[in-house]
Amino acid sequence: MKTSDQWQLAQDAAERYQTILTPNILGPFAQALVDFAALQPGEHVVDVGCGTGAAARFAAPVVGPSGQVAGVDVNASMIDVARSLPDVPGAPITWHVASATELPVPDAQVDAVVCAQTLQFLPQKLPSLAEMKRVVKQNGRITISLWTPIEDNPYFHTLVEAMAEHVGAETAVGLGAAFALSDGPEIQKLLAEAGFNQVEMQTVELDLPLPSLREFVPRHVQATPMANGFNRASAAQQQAVVETVAEKLQLYEANGRTQIPFRSHMICCRK
Ligand SMILES: C[S@@+](CC[C@H](N)C(=O)[O-])C[C@H]1O[C@@H](n2cnc3c(N)ncnc32)[C@H](O)[C@@H]1O
Repeated sequence: MKTSDQWQLAQDAAERYQTILTPNILGPFAQALVDFAALQPGEHVVDVGCGTGAAARFAAPVVGPSGQVAGVDVNASMIDVARSLPDVPGAPITWHVASATELPVPDAQVDAVVCAQTLQFLPQKLPSLAEMKRVVKQNGRITISLWTPIEDNPYFHTLVEAMAEHVGAETAVGLGAAFALSDGPEIQKLLAEAGFNQVEMQTVELDLPLPSLREFVPRHVQATPMANGFNRASAAQQQAVVETVAEKLQLYEANGRTQIPFRSHMICCRK
């Protein structure tokens, strides 16, 4: 598997992830997953594939000072950025560079796993799910967000199509990988294979306000695995991507604001 399929970003890209993707798209969905997990004061939470730690930081005030939060990501650059951010109130957060297949947590210690937009990138899905199951208590829960199919997500769909058309499919795949596990029945099958008896799935739609697309698209691309391919393309090709996305998504603009629907599965599994 190529690193672009696993959302592996270098340090500068991890910083751009935090300043561009987290506030505009991933942060609101991390908050939605934490809400969905219905965390309680005093609970112990692990954020698997925490990236720069959005879900962990939303969880900490909810579980409060008597709770515990751990953020785990295989990419040290993401964890470096997570560690560099100001502390949030509530539970202390510990940050760990580790794989989802080797969580640095003893057996049956955790009330809730949150795994935000990460399972689709994990090369070893069943071993990772088994590991999440290992660390949760008998009555604990594993909550997972995964984008619904790309066709339901007009911003991503338009961007991937424009990138494939004007720059190349090899570059577009860097974002398309985020939708590698989007089909509801396929997700259900995977979770059944992982041995989860109780699985609850909902779709959450958030209408997210984005900055002007002509300004946002090139900045967003730099925070994704598409950056290298995009940066190698000519100025005319880059411009064509931006213009195509801005024109096709004009219907979401009103009164100088752009507000676009994004949709994600929210999944809760119990042992
Ligand atoms: C799209 S990001 C999501 C990050 C974060 N959960 C959020 O919502 O902003 C996917 C994350 O999965 C991490 N990841 C990929 N493979 C992993 C693995 N085998 N173990 C742990 N994390 C992994 C990447 O490093 C990346 O930070």
